[in-house]
Amino acid sequence: MKGSWVSVDGKALTANIRALRAALQSSTEIMFVIKADAYGHGLIPTAQLAAAAGVRWFGVAHLQEAMRLREALADVNVLVMGVVEPADATVIGRQQLACMVVDVEHGRALAAAARAADVTVRAHLKIDTGMGRLGVPWDDATETFRALREETGLVWEGLCSHFATVEPKQPQHAEAQAERFFQVATAAETLHGQPLRKHISSSRAILYHPEWDLDMVRPGIALYGYGASDSRLRFRTQPALQWKCQVMQVKSVPAGTPIGYYGTHVTPQPTRIAILSAGYADGYHRVLSNRGQVLIRGQRCRVIGRVSMNWICADVGPTGMAAPGDEAVLIGHQGKAEVWAGELARLCRTIPYEILVGIDRQAERVYL
Ligand SMILES: Cc1ncc(COP(=O)(O)O)c(C=O)c1O
Repeated sequence: MKGSWVSVDGKALTANIRALRAALQSSTEIMFVIKADAYGHGLIPTAQLAAAAGVRWFGVAHLQEAMRLREALADVNVLVMGVVEPADATVIGRQQLACMVVDVEHGRALAAAARAADVTVRAHLKIDTGMGRLGVPWDDATETFRALREETGLVWEGLCSHFATVEPKQPQHAEAQAERFFQVATAAETLHGQPLRKHISSSRAILYHPEWDLDMVRPGIALYGYGASDSRLRFRTQPALQWKCQVMQVKSVPAGTPIGYYGTHVTPQPTRIAILSAGYADGYHRVLSNRGQVLIRGQRCRVIGRVSMNWICADVGPTGMAAPGDEAVLIGHQGKAEVWAGELARLCRTIPYEILVGIDRQAERVYL
């Protein structure tokens, strides 16, 4: 018996990339964000599928991810979106990775380390236009660029920012961020004397604001199939990842049977319960105790009792036909029944991102 495993539908991922590609102008590049193990889909196989579908840029959070990617794909562009250490300038330069510069000191230290190692580092200036997270505050950004522009060791390639809020009905916040970005970009490009690659939009901005596609877009979640299922949107995608486990035991229990730790569910009538081979150690949130639903033999079955570390109990009903060895779907579809990460996220009061990246990284991943 296995614990849980993931299957990724390569055709769905490819179709998602193609749908986005078709919506963009040909001059806009796609940087596929594949940090956190490609949102749980598996870093290298996801990147390989995307590269085969024509993606030439990838965004990761950490240098380690970038190096793994470089080993697998020699020719693609990889941007490390976290803060790289100046001490890593040598490997960044040699591996031809691109990185973010987040302030003057960071830029100078990277440049000095690059010069000392006799390499050049591909740099994108990260501008904080209102996210309040990484990057140079936008009102300092032009001066920062002026100060760093001629630092040998850095090769200026891009300017980027990240939206904090994209609400199509209340676009003011995003508009203010975009406006700040354009101001800095105009000044920086004038100083530089040539265009830089400008990128600001991740999934929601891409879906609702085509005017901000610019030279490159940085989609993550939409390409994994979340947030873009409505046919009225600019492009449509479908989930590519399914997460499954096995029925380990099925038994009939009488009415009044307490289920799991502290008996938080007591069966109201005689029923059959299936015990499944996954739990919160596999990433199935304990918050889903007595709330979640799983699919067994094409039917939705309620999770009953507390989700424990390695097992889940599901009510298959008094006449339920489940048997040990059956596949149980935690995320995905079986026949016409579906449970997607969005549903689990709502029940857990979180977002699909957290559900997807929370799936045990050690779980076997199968690519279809
Ligand atoms: C800087 C940056 N760009 C792009 C993305 C992709 O965002 P999304 O998955 O919402 O498209 C992220 C994700 O967190 C990010 O941090």
